[in-house]
Amino acid sequence: MRVSVIVVAAGSGQRLGASAPKAFVKLGGRTLLAHALGIIARFGLADEVVITVPPGMEAAAREEADNVGLVIPIKIIAGGAERQDSVRIALGFTSAAAELIVIHDAARPFATVGMFQSCLDGAASVGAAIVAIPLADTLKRVDHHQIKETVPRANLWQAQTPQAFRRDLIIRAHEWAVQNQVVATDDADLVERSGGAVTVVIGSPLNLKITTAEDLSLAEAIAASRSLR
Ligand code: CTP
Ligand code: MG
Repeated sequence: MRVSVIVVAAGSGQRLGASAPKAFVKLGGRTLLAHALGIIARFGLADEVVITVPPGMEAAAREEADNVGLVIPIKIIAGGAERQDSVRIALGFTSAAAELIVIHDAARPFATVGMFQSCLDGAASVGAAIVAIPLADTLKRVDHHQIKETVPRANLWQAQTPQAFRRDLIIRAHEWAVQNQVVATDDADLVERSGGAVTVVIGSPLNLKITTAEDLSLAEAIAASRSLR
């Protein structure tokens, strides 16, 4: 079964506020993009990688890919205005021979080979599977600093990436989103809302998403603790 991996790295990283686009910001001496590509190289089951980058960053991304020793075909393309646009554009560049697509955010440098493997296995058996973790904190709905309600936590999970899908299923979900002008924050939501079943596989709190400067500091601490081992 042929597998394409999409790495979305075309965001500007506005909330991080660094001088470079977020995927080109360094963590433990390597860019976030290099971390993501390194995981894919170790994963070993990808037949190709499609990377979305901010327009003008294609050559920089190519250098990152060369440095991590990925030996499969790599397509580097300019992303779209929003993450969902970038994924849709990237899907159009995936090989028609691919049966499964794994989508991963460059903003999650601590995803593991095991996470890629388990969501790929899930997608191969049921069509769609995402990495997620059960929610640990109590949730409050708040308006102007006033608690309106406590949201029952049972059955609530936090979605992460990687997320894996049968190629026909995820392409159809994105087409459905265009036709119905639906905007979602992850790809699984488009499959769910267009009628597909999605399963979850266990991720990790360590598979954090770098959004703010605080997240990057936390990630630096995790990366430093690993390099000491
Ligand atoms: N992404 C993308 N194309 C976009 C927007 C985002 O490929 N137009 C990618 C980002 O590069 C990131 C992932 O989608 O790897 C998740 O997006 P997010 O964490 O929101 O990153 P940014 O959009 O860069 O950050 P911000 O929203 O703070 O600007
Ligand atoms: Mg964003």
